[in-house]
Amino acid sequence: MKITPKGHSNIQDVDFNNLQFGATFSDHMLICKYKDGKWGEAEIKPYQPIPMMPGTQVLHYGQSVFEGMKAFKTKEGKVLLFREEDNFNRLNKSAKRICIPEIPKDIFMDGLHEILKLDSDWVKQGDNYSLYIRPFIFASGQCIKATISDEYTFMIICSPTTTYYAGDMHVKIEQKYTRAVKGGTGAVKAAGNYAASFYPTKLAREKGFSQIIWTDSENHEYLEEAGTMNIWVRIDDTLITPKLSGTILGGITRDSILQLAKDMGITVEERAISISELREAHQSGRLKEVFGTGTAVSVIFIGSITQGDYKMQLSKQEDSYAQKLKKTIIGIQHGNLEDKYGWVAEVESVFSRQ
Ligand code: COI
Repeated sequence: MKITPKGHSNIQDVDFNNLQFGATFSDHMLICKYKDGKWGEAEIKPYQPIPMMPGTQVLHYGQSVFEGMKAFKTKEGKVLLFREEDNFNRLNKSAKRICIPEIPKDIFMDGLHEILKLDSDWVKQGDNYSLYIRPFIFASGQCIKATISDEYTFMIICSPTTTYYAGDMHVKIEQKYTRAVKGGTGAVKAAGNYAASFYPTKLAREKGFSQIIWTDSENHEYLEEAGTMNIWVRIDDTLITPKLSGTILGGITRDSILQLAKDMGITVEERAISISELREAHQSGRLKEVFGTGTAVSVIFIGSITQGDYKMQLSKQEDSYAQKLKKTIIGIQHGNLEDKYGWVAEVESVFSRQ
């Protein structure tokens, strides 16, 4: 791998007390190109523009996939990655669905660890801080025929972050627009999924909601996701999340929360949740909590859900599952709680393991 370190870091210019999610980038980026049927040598260089011709395929047909992952700093100053292998596997699952050649593991892992070694100062200590890592692959060949590209670019960029949303979320149930359909791309991280979600989300924001709860495309009756997150509903003391049916993204945070909740002795169900069940549970006082999970947000409490004219207000529980699960996952990610699951890996040690 070719590495060209940046001569002078930009870190002094960053106000870490006022970070806006995804708007600040660390000093370095990784770039690797696919051409003539194979991936070339990866290169790490200072974060900079990538020249592109107007006929570049991704600009026309959106052939692009991405990941979201995070690095954390322990009290001792070590940099930890959370479930990196799962992100690597999911990136390739997404790539396959969008007809993008899979990225070899050594390019992904070596690149990831090298960039984190160079940019380790950008991972700040403290429970609220992390470095959000964005690996992505896009069609970089030039041709405006609607066809698969024969050239691709894989990149990794990093962005220091605190919280994704300020405060609790107030969401509306979406029953007109759809995020994903059976047989579509909802189960993978295709860039186009997010582009298609912007318009309905904008309409919801104009009405004062912070996000949308997506429902199934056939009847708009079953809950699927909350914005860019997986959704969790607590009815009495049972925690329920929609089953991965092919239209829902298999969140790595979702999978971690499932495991942690089971190990805390919470009854967890992965199954369909209908709007009628949600409303009935609310009317009878059995709907105790609703929250979202995702890499960017971690675990976030949902303060109200509106369906048409009916608003379900949710108050904070003394024994909140969301709170307990959030504390635990953050504790593991920052190295403050024991990691029984083998989820965290130290940047330096993983790299020198091979
Ligand atoms: C993540 O949680 O990593 C996501 O993919 C959300 C992203 C759109 C910021």
